[in-house]
Amino acid sequence: MEERKNTTGDFNGECHVGVKSVDKVYNPSLETSVKALENISLEIYRGRFVSVVGPSGCGKSTLLRLIAGLSPPTRGKVIVGEEEVNGPIQNVGFVFQKPVLFHWRKVLENVLAPLSLKGEKSKDSERKARELLSLTGLDGFEDRYPTELSGGMQQRVSICRALITDPPLLLMDEPFGALDAFTRDKMNLELLKIWRKSKEGGKGSKTVLFVTHDIEEAIFLADNVVSLSERPGRILENISVALTRPREIDQKTAQKFNELEEHIYHLMLGDSEN
Ligand SMILES: Nc1ncnc2c1ncn2[C@@H]1O[C@H](COP(=O)(O)OP(=O)(O)OP(=O)(O)O)[C@@H](O)[C@H]1O
Ligand SMILES: [Mg+2]
Repeated sequence: MEERKNTTGDFNGECHVGVKSVDKVYNPSLETSVKALENISLEIYRGRFVSVVGPSGCGKSTLLRLIAGLSPPTRGKVIVGEEEVNGPIQNVGFVFQKPVLFHWRKVLENVLAPLSLKGEKSKDSERKARELLSLTGLDGFEDRYPTELSGGMQQRVSICRALITDPPLLLMDEPFGALDAFTRDKMNLELLKIWRKSKEGGKGSKTVLFVTHDIEEAIFLADNVVSLSERPGRILENISVALTRPREIDQKTAQKFNELEEHIYHLMLGDSEN
C-alpha cells in the first residue's frame, strides 16, 4: 500500500496514530471533574503492535476513546492517518471493554453487522465471518443469540466483528480480560497470526493498540509497551520489546522476557509509592 503522508506537519509520514500533548478532563466545569489523562504524547507507526498497561482507572479506555474520536481531548490533539480527529473516525475496528452486541441478532449477524449497515454483506463476507468465528473457537455458535454465550465468548464475537471489515487500525480494550489463561494464550496467538497475515497481504499492515492490565500479555504481543501512571494517566515509559517474531509461548520464560516484565512492574510499583 502506498504510504499515506501526514500533512499536519506534527508527525512524520509513517506515523499512523499521533497523540500530541493531550489532557482529558471529564466534567471540567463541575465539582465532579476528573482528570483522566495528562500530557500524553505518542506516535504509533503504521503496522506496529503497541500495548498499553496501567492500573485500573488510569485512563486506558479514555485514551482509546480519544483516538477513535468518541470523546474529544480537553487539550492537545489526536491525528489518525492524515487527519486531525474531530469526531468518530472511519476504518477502525474497536473492541470495547464490555462487549456491545445486538441482543436480538444471532452471533453470525452480529459479526456481519458493520457490513450489513453499509449494505456490503455478501456470500464472501459470510464465509469470512464463519472463518473468524472458527478462529476464535466459536464454531457451532453462529445461530445462537449473544445472551446464550458467556462473557468471554461474547467478547470474542465482538473481536470478530471488529475484524470483519479488515480495518487498518484496531483498538482493543482488554479484549481477553474475561478469559482463562489457556484460552487467552490461544487467542493471543490467533491475534498475532491475523496481524502477521495483514503484513503479508497486499492491503497494508494493521496498526494495533491493545489495552491490558496484564504485563505479561502486553509484552508477549507488542513491539512497544506504553506504561501509564496512576490517574491522571501520564506516560511513565514507552518500552521497546526486542523479542523475535513470530512469538511463541516459550518465550515467556526467557530471561529477556522476565527482565522486561520486572522492569515494567517496578516502574508501576515505583509510581504507586510516590
Ligand atoms: N464518561 C465519563 N465521565 C466521567 N468520568 C469518567 C468517564 N469515563 C471515565 N471517567 C473517569 O476517568 C478515569 C479513567 O477512566 P478509564 O475508564 O479511562 O480508566 P481505565 O484505565 O480504562 O480503567 P480500567 O482498567 O478499570 O478499565 C476514571 O477515574 C473514571 O472514573
Ligand atoms: Mg478501561
